[in-house]
Amino acid sequence: MSIGEKIEKKLAAFAACATDGGTLWRPSFSAADDRSCALLETWLAEENMEIYRDALGNLFGRIPGRESRVVMVGSHRDSVKNGGRYDGAAGLIIAMLAAGELYRELGAPQKTVEVVALQEEEGSQFLSGFLGSKAITGLLTERALDLRDRQGTRLEAFLSGADFRQAVRDDIDLFLELHIEQGPYLEQENLPLGVVETIVGLIIARVTVTGQQNHAGTTPMHLRRDPVRGATEMITALLQGAAAISPKVTMTFGELSAAPGASNVIPQTVCFSVDCRDVDAANLDALNRLIQENLTALETKGYGAAIEYRCIEQPKELSKDAVDLIAKSADQLEIPYTRMSSGAGHDAQIMATRFPAGMLFVPSRSGISHSPDEYTSPANLATGFAVLKQALRNAAWQR
Ligand code: HGY
Ligand code: MN
Ligand code: MN
Repeated sequence: MSIGEKIEKKLAAFAACATDGGTLWRPSFSAADDRSCALLETWLAEENMEIYRDALGNLFGRIPGRESRVVMVGSHRDSVKNGGRYDGAAGLIIAMLAAGELYRELGAPQKTVEVVALQEEEGSQFLSGFLGSKAITGLLTERALDLRDRQGTRLEAFLSGADFRQAVRDDIDLFLELHIEQGPYLEQENLPLGVVETIVGLIIARVTVTGQQNHAGTTPMHLRRDPVRGATEMITALLQGAAAISPKVTMTFGELSAAPGASNVIPQTVCFSVDCRDVDAANLDALNRLIQENLTALETKGYGAAIEYRCIEQPKELSKDAVDLIAKSADQLEIPYTRMSSGAGHDAQIMATRFPAGMLFVPSRSGISHSPDEYTSPANLATGFAVLKQALRNAAWQR
């Protein structure tokens, strides 16, 4: 079996742990995550790694080196709802196989190697995202304990008394993450590898528009305060305003709901999420101003307007040394690549706030991701494996 087929087979088994009734969802602190971790622990043990978890539930496979300083490699294990089998999973399974193969071939590394399966990057359970990497980099505060999942349960209830501050690390010299590109660029350029230099900044928020609940048939149109009208006017204004800031800005409204939700009732409230991104910090500030201006406009029109910010992350330049290490590793293998930015947010941008972090992309078919149609070929997975293995060999085995 080729390494590409081996990775593909593990991805299928990993996905099967989180596929209830046909759709894939691996939120943190769920039965799906428990099944997935049990499988990962079996695989990490097969690679002769020491297995442990930190206070937030990040799962590690450790290969002791001659030095205690750590080269960490991996990605997130959670997924979006109805997601694909490659986002996060490809990076952590390839990291595990690459580190395990080097361990068998070369013995103990110079630096300690830790494979990590990170917790709650997607924010699909606690709506804020990057919890695992934020715990490791000391960016979690007490306020995080009040984050609530979709059933309203606080994060603290899931930590079973563990102190999340114990997850903070100061022994990491480098973090490496392989990930699917989740966009069309590599496929369009017919390249097997992307070396990430910059990761996009993002604002993710939830807006609640409040109007006046009333009868759908007896309320004249000019006497209504219909929050659907207010919300759609704001969404249209945000789309137009974002395009005026930059054609590269992305603006997405993935969640949209009306309450109480009956066809013959003018709703009381409409809630919608706003997800906007750009690699330029000034554009991100302009987007935030645009959102605030439109909230004020709603109130001027007589609606209630409230916003809950879930996640604000600045764009991040990855460390030149880490970027050059990955590029050098690809050159050593004579694998063509391009240096590029990421339109998706990643744990690497959080890790990069505390220690050097590098990221490499493998192509996504038709650029599709956050969808069951997500796909990366075994050949492309194998190329990513080879480059990550070479980068890990250069960084941790140093020979
Ligand atoms: O939303 C993102 O960009 C990432 O998948 N969390
Ligand atoms: Mn994702
Ligand atoms: Mn991801």
